[in-house]
Amino acid sequence: MSEQQKAIDSYGMKDLGWDKVPFDIGDKKMEALISLKGKKAIVTGAGGVGLGLAISHRLASLGADVMMTDINPRVNDTAKEVAEKWGVNTYPLISDFTKYDEVQKMMAEAKEKMGRIDILINNAFFTRYGLFKDFTPEMIDTSVTGGLVGLTYCCRAVCDYMIPQGSGRIINITSASSMSAKTNTGITLYGALKSAVNGLTRGLANELAPHGITVNAVSPGLMLHAELQEAFKHPTPENLAGRIPMVLGVQSTLVGRTSIPEEVANVVGFMCSDACSYMYGQVVNVDGGIIV
Ligand SMILES: NC(=O)c1ccc[n+]([C@@H]2O[C@H](COP(=O)([O-])OP(=O)(O)OC[C@H]3O[C@@H](n4cnc5c(N)ncnc54)[C@H](O)[C@@H]3O)[C@@H](O)[C@H]2O)c1
Repeated sequence: MSEQQKAIDSYGMKDLGWDKVPFDIGDKKMEALISLKGKKAIVTGAGGVGLGLAISHRLASLGADVMMTDINPRVNDTAKEVAEKWGVNTYPLISDFTKYDEVQKMMAEAKEKMGRIDILINNAFFTRYGLFKDFTPEMIDTSVTGGLVGLTYCCRAVCDYMIPQGSGRIINITSASSMSAKTNTGITLYGALKSAVNGLTRGLANELAPHGITVNAVSPGLMLHAELQEAFKHPTPENLAGRIPMVLGVQSTLVGRTSIPEEVANVVGFMCSDACSYMYGQVVNVDGGIIV
């Protein structure tokens, strides 16, 4: 008998990871699996009017306590709004995600206030708009920092907490512009940086899975929140170029409409829960079919 045949004959169910399968989920109601009661989350960029705030609301509505961080002091108000609406604890923190020492302080404060960090949502971003041929070195540097470096800092810093815990969920917010360049006129570098976020998501999923941590990404199309509505209706020279990918993006959907942040936040909520137990390193498109 060959060595290979001997090995095959000696295989047991343990070799299929049978001892690690979460069999108990079959006896639980879906609403119990999707509950985030007792979970502690961090959402970056939660002081705006877009996805960060919508995700904070969704996670809180599922029972999670949320540390809401942003460079914008408005996060103090949004955190209050979320806590009052859903009866959970929220912790506002003014923090710049592009400064590593501030990111480390964010994680330390989350641990101190909430006891642990179960979920990290990397939502914050900053970019410059315009045709790439007109980009200055300053615009390039700012976009790389706001589109990739800050998110990478947050992923790195949370490892120091999630790895010792042996558990955690990281969800990176990417964009349909990471998958297709057709709708990216005016946001070329942003799209490229979001492609890097997808690559980081897959690589981290591979490195962190043995530590009980899942890493995935969610990829929205256009989400027309109040600020973008304003920018679209009353363009300034700085954001004028942003109108092109907005219209191109919607024209490329299968439904012929924009989305609102809540439609994406619902998917993020599911992906943070025990109902989503076998998803690793995925980029989940919630984009009205742009990528189809
Ligand atoms: N809005 C869209 O149509 C759209 C489409 C695809 C992907 N996305 C992605 O969704 C995410 C959320 O975008 P949104 O448009 O909903 O905006 P949002 O309202 O969630 O705002 C992002 C937040 O990041 C914060 N921020 C900026 N620089 C920061 C810094 N240095 N430190 C800390 N916080 C900082 C801003 O103050 C803002 O509150 C982003 O990652 C974006 O790339 C958005």
